[in-house]
Amino acid sequence: MPRKGSGAVPTCGIMAGANPATVPLLDAEVRMRIGILTGGGDCPGLNAVIRAVVRKGIGEHGDELVGFRDGWRGVLEGDTVPLDLAAVRGLLPRGGTVLGTSRTNPYAVDGGPERVLATLDRLGIDALIPIGGEDTLGVATRLAEAGVTVVGVPKTIDNDLDATDYTFGFDTAVGVAMEAIDRLHTTGDSHHRTLVVEVMGRHAGWIALHAGMAGGANVVLIPEKPFDIDAVVGHCLHRFESGFSPIVVVSEGAAPKDGGLMLSGGEKDAFGHVRLGGIGAALAAVIEERTNREARAVVLGHVQRGGTPSPFDRVLATRFGLAAIDAVHDGQSGIMVALRGTDIVRVRLSEATAQLKLVPPERYAEAEVFFG
Ligand code: F6P
Repeated sequence: MPRKGSGAVPTCGIMAGANPATVPLLDAEVRMRIGILTGGGDCPGLNAVIRAVVRKGIGEHGDELVGFRDGWRGVLEGDTVPLDLAAVRGLLPRGGTVLGTSRTNPYAVDGGPERVLATLDRLGIDALIPIGGEDTLGVATRLAEAGVTVVGVPKTIDNDLDATDYTFGFDTAVGVAMEAIDRLHTTGDSHHRTLVVEVMGRHAGWIALHAGMAGGANVVLIPEKPFDIDAVVGHCLHRFESGFSPIVVVSEGAAPKDGGLMLSGGEKDAFGHVRLGGIGAALAAVIEERTNREARAVVLGHVQRGGTPSPFDRVLATRFGLAAIDAVHDGQSGIMVALRGTDIVRVRLSEATAQLKLVPPERYAEAEVFFG
């Protein structure tokens, strides 16, 4: 069995004295064999975390780092790649994940948890650093409860993980969406047509809210607030009256109040999530009919997840990686590193994965000021 962490887990909220810079290392001389994996949807900044963990793990602690390929699949199957200093050269600006990723859920596989424990035991892994969103870290939470030493790192373009102000990947995704909206304004105005921009985010409207506000959208629709189609059409008509054309930003999980326009094919992943998409096209059809002006849908899709991370995401990912390796060497387990204000802190994994962080009504109200 992997060695269990010896340090105390925070009892609630942020761990007291959690600033890694101020916590004395309990066992700084112990060299460890540490596993890293990236699970769930990829996002810009994953490689920057891997690089930071490896650089500090080897450079300051003399650790040995083992990468697991394709998230929990690699742990289930013992599919590994050695991570030395040479392996992480040039990774800081690189999008995606060099380890690969998957949505494999060991708890949905027969004998999955036992196979995970057996792999860790066989490979002599002392601690795991899983980098992921609610699903990957949900598995991490259960493994920590089963006695594995786990320090999680939060990532997702959706920014929907509770207990951290921001996840890396989000800033980059918002930047991509904002640039698209900027470009769509000029072509939409030229053709006097409505452009509906469908963005990702699953059940949280953070990408739509931030990209819509940054890009000056005329309507922003999010899953947290079912929309009134009459109001959306009204905003579009008002925008046309001003001599400009409307941009409607719609989150892939948004839905109308009356329940129409439901589009998902119903296909689910190993964590039970339905694949979303299609609201943009359905909405554009209704807007075209009701405004009597052409409307087109643009689905940004995975473009939001690809490519190089923004400066904000590079720095956040790097700080998370450094904080994670410090936490492992402090003997911590069952925790996640998180951003609170400008500080990197430690929070309980169970707390971070208990619920999603959704857009509060007051944040949506700020965007509404600019509708129409
Ligand atoms: O969680 C990240 C995310 O990009 C969501 O915004 C989106 O709903 C989902 O992943 C799409 O996942 P994929 O197409 O990779 O299965």
